[in-house]
Amino acid sequence: MRILHNLFENNRQWAEKMRESDPGFFKRLSQEQRPKYLWIGCSDSRVPANQIVDLPPGEVFVHRNVANVVEQTDMNCLSVMQFAVEALKIEHIIVCGHYGCGGVEASLKGGRLGLIDNWLRSVAVVAEKHRTDLENTPDYNEKVNRLCELNVVEQVYNVCRTTIVQEAWHRKQPLSVHGWIYDLRDGLLRDLGVMVEANSEIAKVE
Ligand code: CO
Repeated sequence: MRILHNLFENNRQWAEKMRESDPGFFKRLSQEQRPKYLWIGCSDSRVPANQIVDLPPGEVFVHRNVANVVEQTDMNCLSVMQFAVEALKIEHIIVCGHYGCGGVEASLKGGRLGLIDNWLRSVAVVAEKHRTDLENTPDYNEKVNRLCELNVVEQVYNVCRTTIVQEAWHRKQPLSVHGWIYDLRDGLLRDLGVMVEANSEIAKVE
């Protein structure tokens, strides 16, 4: 018996459905991908990139990690970004956080969860940078959600500062970086209004 047979069954039915609605779909996709978007989001199972924006396979290049962090030393994230920008020539990088993010909350609590605390250190740095703002938000859940927003904005800034984005803008390659947040409670995305398309606009995010 096949292990996790329900998933294989789901997959068989899904592939069949896709073939029925578009017989050439898989053949076309097997030959090339031409996504316009790079999605940098949280690993949270409730925030699946393609589904949220209702796009089929082939449309979104995706990188996800706990709390949608962009570290200048993270080879994984940087490699994804480089391939997306330089090889696929994607036009938009979307950093998408979500309210009620467990990673963001953990960094706020300053817990002792082990290895993950190291990863979340950069979110804690965001919290320290915006300490006054967070202190002015006394309600605990609101504070977590505020930090979720602030974290997205800071990660947008981090994306802009990578050599990958800097080089792309230097080449005049069209590339914009967006900061969005997803609300688990109603399934809706909200634009945090921090779109950056050039170096001159970074100050707006800082
Ligand atoms: Co999260």
